[in-house]
Amino acid sequence: MVALLALIAPTLAVDCTRDGLLAAADSYLAAVTSGKSSDLKLSSTNFTYQQNNKVSDIAKGILSTPWKIDLNRSTADTVACASYTMFISSSGTKPYVVGTQIRHANNDTSSISMIDTVAATTGDLFFDAKKTLGYIQKEDWTIIPADQRPSRDLLKKVGDAYLDMWTDAKAADTIPWGTECERVEGSSYTSPCGKTLPHGGSAKNNGMRRYVIDEEMGSVDVLCQFDSLGPWPDSHEVRVIAGKVKYVHTITVMKT
Ligand SMILES: *[C@@H]1O[C@H](CO)[C@@H](O)[C@H](O)[C@H]1NC(C)=O
Ligand SMILES: *[C@@H]1O[C@H](CO)[C@@H](O)[C@H](O)[C@H]1NC(C)=O
Ligand SMILES: *[C@@H]1O[C@H](CO)[C@@H](O)[C@H](O)[C@H]1NC(C)=O
Repeated sequence: MVALLALIAPTLAVDCTRDGLLAAADSYLAAVTSGKSSDLKLSSTNFTYQQNNKVSDIAKGILSTPWKIDLNRSTADTVACASYTMFISSSGTKPYVVGTQIRHANNDTSSISMIDTVAATTGDLFFDAKKTLGYIQKEDWTIIPADQRPSRDLLKKVGDAYLDMWTDAKAADTIPWGTECERVEGSSYTSPCGKTLPHGGSAKNNGMRRYVIDEEMGSVDVLCQFDSLGPWPDSHEVRVIAGKVKYVHTITVMKT
């Protein structure tokens, strides 16, 4: 019976679960805290570590040292079977604000196939981890009631339109800005968000876009290469509440 199940199992559709994604994200945060990437359940056949848009050795990146985490938050995308985790470490000699997407192949959240990190530190765009922490600590990230969630499609469009503002003069007007929207770019704070937006001007599209879309949180995170101004490794996260943009966060690395 067991042998028979083992034969059948690989062909059965397995659901990617929110709990599984968030448990894997927590295991990542535990590894960040301990500085031991060896504790992570990485796929032995299909694992990639990427830091600041470059494939690299996990043993040499930020996971090689323990970090004290002041704040963390994770979102989950069961369709892409991926999660997004943001954490801030502000107290050490090397402060960090980090955005990480974790991916799982074949809907198997017990095994990690990719850790994709954008890690900003002193000298990066508007970098001040303590100031960023102060703004983000005050935010409300409770789950959105089931009947008020933005669709996956809307979240993807908002994420893309945001990154298109530098190349497409009309993109900013397609975004449903909330009247009390707050934008935290590095540590630079703007409210309302819909103020002082770019309307085209660059010929270079922001490329290498990777998405984590969470309808329950009403959020989209896009890791990308900010070619319009850069080429800078970048994370743009947007949260939509009651159909309108409420928060925008950016992490942008200038020194790589
Ligand atoms: C993976 O999980 C998602 C969400 O439950 C589901 O829609 C999808 O069909 C699953 N894919 C596979 C290959 O099992
Ligand atoms: C992440 O944040 C939660 C509260 O949102 C906290 O309970 C947990 O201890 C934090 N994890 C780490 C590793 O700091
Ligand atoms: C390897 O992992 C990536 C996600 O990081 C996934 O897109 C790809 O399908 C996986 N390949 C195999 C052969 O499972």
